Amino acid sequence: MMDARTKELIALGASVAANCHPCVRHHMGRAREMDIDRAEIQQALQVGRMVRKGAADQMDELIAEQHSGCCGTGGATCSETSEAEKVRETVRKGYGQIAQGQSGCCGAPPERLAEAIGYTSDELAALPEGANMGLSCGNPTALAGLQPGQTVLDLGSGGGFDVFVAAAKVGPTGRSIGVDMTADMVAKARAGLSEFSKKTGLANVEFRLGEIEHLPAADASVDIVISNCVINLSPDKPQVWREIARVLKPGGKACVSDLALKKPLPEKIRQSVAALISCVGGAVLIDETLRMARQAGLHDVTVNEKAYDIDVIAECNDELYRQVKESLPASVKLSDYVASVDVTARKAPAC
Ligand SMILES: C[S@@+](CC[C@H](N)C(=O)[O-])C[C@H]1O[C@@H](n2cnc3c(N)ncnc32)[C@H](O)[C@@H]1O
Repeated sequence: MMDARTKELIALGASVAANCHPCVRHHMGRAREMDIDRAEIQQALQVGRMVRKGAADQMDELIAEQHSGCCGTGGATCSETSEAEKVRETVRKGYGQIAQGQSGCCGAPPERLAEAIGYTSDELAALPEGANMGLSCGNPTALAGLQPGQTVLDLGSGGGFDVFVAAAKVGPTGRSIGVDMTADMVAKARAGLSEFSKKTGLANVEFRLGEIEHLPAADASVDIVISNCVINLSPDKPQVWREIARVLKPGGKACVSDLALKKPLPEKIRQSVAALISCVGGAVLIDETLRMARQAGLHDVTVNEKAYDIDVIAECNDELYRQVKESLPASVKLSDYVASVDVTARKAPAC
């Protein structure tokens, strides 16, 4: 059984270790009242300081370890993060220039490309000027079978093309939201809002600045996620699929048009900035897309290769595609490697 004096000395040491000044004052007073020997008090204080220093040292070591793993001193986590950030920055810069009209992704009139991939002339007529930038590779709004009243989220909305098309389909009781990480793209899309409202009488559209790897949308808040030629640009595609699964309501659906690989690209193309920006360099194998969507917890995942081939887009005489094509041997076509695909997936309904 511990006597009261020993208990008081332990309490004093623990107060020092915890760096609790009022506790130290209290137990010091009690020790004096109990007439405990000065040398014993000093010893308790010393033990307390040692414990505190040991804990602080350990904490410093832990912090140093974590830093060496994420801030440039050679740890794996750090180099992965900065590599991903570099890719995002390259993509943001490329699409910033496209938004400002300094560079284009397709030399053909955007309407011609849109009609080739299935948009109707009525859909195109309702669009505000400049929303269709000729950056698409599919028609996810058709795939989605949108219904009045639904909430739609478009990942990588660019000039707002599919967001406006979807808004007309979900009508005044629905909502159509675009997310894009390039400020100039969001500004361009927002510039079309009033023209769209005048043409259609709708005020159900909004554009949010953000990354598709960290969607600015609440959990289970969206009926349909769409995306058109964007996920290939992400340096962290599994995270994009997890975000899709997070924001979808139970029973909700993802409809994604994108480019996918039929076989691995030559290294020279994988490293090319032109290939990345033109949605080829970052594309992944069809099987990988199936795996990522399933691992994110989505069901009924399908990937369909589209009837028209990627050479239709590449033939647009576009500078970026020209650079990509030039890095392939003359006998090889882009469509030998790349296909335009439609991906659909569902979040399980609530029990
Ligand atoms: C090929 S364009 C497609 C634009 C639009 N979906 C269309 O069909 O017109 C790609 C768009 O995705 C955006 N983007 C690329 N990576 C992104 C990311 N990680 N997060 C958010 N937006 C991204 C770009 O800024 C660009 O506006």
